[in-house]
Amino acid sequence: MYADTLVIPGLHEKHPIPATVGNNEGLLTVTENMYDEDFLKIIDEEAQILADLAENWQALPKSKRVTFWMRTDDPAKHQPRFAVEKAVLEVKKILFPNGEDKELGIVGAKYWIQRRSQTDRVGFHYDKDEAMASDQSIMRFPVYGTISYLGDIGAPTVLYKQTVVRNGNVEVPRVPSVTWVVQPRRNRFVIQRGDLHHGADPALAAQPVPPGQQRLTLVITWWNYTPLEPNAHRLSDSELPPGLVKSVADIGGLSDKRYRGSFEELTIGGNR
Ligand SMILES: [Fe+2]
Repeated sequence: MYADTLVIPGLHEKHPIPATVGNNEGLLTVTENMYDEDFLKIIDEEAQILADLAENWQALPKSKRVTFWMRTDDPAKHQPRFAVEKAVLEVKKILFPNGEDKELGIVGAKYWIQRRSQTDRVGFHYDKDEAMASDQSIMRFPVYGTISYLGDIGAPTVLYKQTVVRNGNVEVPRVPSVTWVVQPRRNRFVIQRGDLHHGADPALAAQPVPPGQQRLTLVITWWNYTPLEPNAHRLSDSELPPGLVKSVADIGGLSDKRYRGSFEELTIGGNR
């Protein structure tokens, strides 16, 4: 019976994703029109710069890709330095509208750009502290994951209603019977609980990536401790590449035309 129940590590029962009580147990939400279009255009530009930076970063163990760390628990001390860091704080407003981050012990967020060509597949995985997994074989998850889609093309995000316990050794349930599918759409935004099994397979794309184009997402995960270097790297001011928008006060942010979106739910078998 253990394996037939979605075990919820941590504090999530107390803090479901905002406004999702009674809806998929607070595991997933979709919002459309998340950001002002002008703000999103700046994110588009910074996305290419940050993706280039990560691709050219020093080699990390097991060929993992660097991600970037930002404290969010003391905005007075940790000002956003460019538009993507401003987006992190905008997402914080949506995710923790009443200061829930403090109760959850959220200290910051890890951000990175996924830039995928036509054939790039994101295999099924759990988001985790990659340095801790590589160095200590310990599996720790973010509390939440969030995805901002910058375009309309490419693989959908596919999430199983499944997590893993006992340091990654026991998946619950053993076979997921509920699957959620979110197709990319510009300015669509997803919140998922941070410990769900997920991937992105181009074979399932509603609109495949045309040759020479890319699927682009801004991924931000939220943590109740500081995930380890070197995989979760705090960019120093001197490491910031040129081209990032340095003055973020007046570049917009969340759209006031946001509305709740939907997602496909697929159910196989009776074991929900
Ligand atoms: Fe992921």
